[in-house]
Amino acid sequence: MAGDEKFYVTTPIYYVNDAPHLGHAYTNMACDALVRFRRLDGNDVLFTTGTDEHGQKVENSAKAAGLDPQAFCDSVSQTFRNMNALLGIDRHDFVRTTEQRHIRCATEMWNRIAEHGDIYLGKYGYYYSIRDEAPFDESELVNGKAPTGADVEWVEEENYFFRLSAWGDRLLAFYDANPDFIGPVARRNEVVSFVKGGLHDLSISRTSFSWGIPVPNDPKHIMYVWIEALGVYLTGAGYPDITGEKYRHYWPCNLHMVGKDIVRFHCVYWPAFLMAAGIPVPKRVFGHGWWTVEGQKMSKSLGNSITPQALVDKYGRDAVRYFVLREMPFGSDGDFSHRAMVNRINGDLANDLGNLAQRVLSMIQRYCAGRVPVAGALEPADNALLGTAGGLLEKLRTEYAVPAYHRVLDHLWELVGDANRYVDEQAPWALNKTDPARGDTVLYVLLETIRHLAILLQPVMPTSAAKMLDQLAVPPDRRDFAALSAHPLVAGTVLPKPEGVFPRYVEESADAGR
Ligand code: MSP
Repeated sequence: MAGDEKFYVTTPIYYVNDAPHLGHAYTNMACDALVRFRRLDGNDVLFTTGTDEHGQKVENSAKAAGLDPQAFCDSVSQTFRNMNALLGIDRHDFVRTTEQRHIRCATEMWNRIAEHGDIYLGKYGYYYSIRDEAPFDESELVNGKAPTGADVEWVEEENYFFRLSAWGDRLLAFYDANPDFIGPVARRNEVVSFVKGGLHDLSISRTSFSWGIPVPNDPKHIMYVWIEALGVYLTGAGYPDITGEKYRHYWPCNLHMVGKDIVRFHCVYWPAFLMAAGIPVPKRVFGHGWWTVEGQKMSKSLGNSITPQALVDKYGRDAVRYFVLREMPFGSDGDFSHRAMVNRINGDLANDLGNLAQRVLSMIQRYCAGRVPVAGALEPADNALLGTAGGLLEKLRTEYAVPAYHRVLDHLWELVGDANRYVDEQAPWALNKTDPARGDTVLYVLLETIRHLAILLQPVMPTSAAKMLDQLAVPPDRRDFAALSAHPLVAGTVLPKPEGVFPRYVEESADAGR
């Protein structure tokens, strides 16, 4: 993977009728770790996220807030930008669907699909759930409600339709030819069987409200929110300027990261729209799982949504990033609980990694006058540990390609475990008395191992990893992956006095016993 490959990754764009919560934060932190990994590995990365601002729900929410829709969108969209700053989301383009560049993009996409003959005007009656922004067939209703439990209403209107029914075979052929298009495999199977079940044409315009992008040449219709919202990924790549450097370099997109509930939109509708418009289809869509909180579904009515701000205030940014990527296998569902979070902070971070670094750096102060020691001849145990450290990057490349963050962190913590056992076995405090040269070698091997860990941990815990690298006096321009083998620590380098990087979480009295 190393080198100057290009990589374009996107998060979904978030509806502005809800405040940012753990679910949104999760996708952004996951994408950010991948983006940082790729950048440190020498790739040229485009990273987009943003807000989805049109549609009836937004129009309704704005009215309820007593604001005009644009003012309402401006203020909620800003809360998502703030979330990114809070979570340390790396350089990205924040795209809003109310921006001119997006309106141009969606209009052009519509025209291209229409030119291809895949849009027609028809009459449509359907059940519509405002809460889900989704139409339903009678057969999909459960006790007269949407499958999500939301109320539905019967709507009949003249709509433009996308001829989705004509795309089933081409989609199936596309999935066959591109087995990695949908991950994880379970989601791929769901999509394939959905398409095999037969596709209906899709209503893609509305006349019942006005907060949206007008249909070209028929402005009493506005585009149905999904057909324009998906286009945001093209907007991010500079479309419709298809001769431009940006588009030619970054499109097709490498990865759309999405939650499991919107896999169908991204894996069925989106490739069909693109093929109809004659635009290359992205390489991969990955559908991640959902978080529950203390065993319960997050919901407005239960009032148990966790805000990113509350999480960061309580546990710290890096611990939150670590937890969400370690705790649940990427692709599966998982539960967020205070207890599990504290176990990770105090176990993995403070005890395992934090103690390793603190012990080794304190011994450097005590036995080596605070300088990187000289390594003598290496013994098999030294080579084993350094060999594991040196082999990690390749393993991590494989895991990030999935992406399987939990396995990335498992690999890193295997090395943490090996290093802690090595300290105990080699006992450098005893060697310092009996064979100080050997003691120096052991401490050098440990410092190098910690340097590898810190460099490779940067994508997940950028702030803590930077502190660790400061303590190893690694200069800022020697922290990318090329430096792993190119710039080992230099004997004699003065190291600053160590400070703990991973504090233990001490229960506030209100938490005790939970
Ligand atoms: N606007 C659309 C996406 C359009 S993309 C062209 C949308 N927005 S959303 O704000 O409702 O949801 C955004 C994302 O948040 C989805 O990927 C969804 O899966 C994710 N999550 C919402 N709740 C979640 C959890 N409880 N856990 C994890 N992710 C969750 O859909």
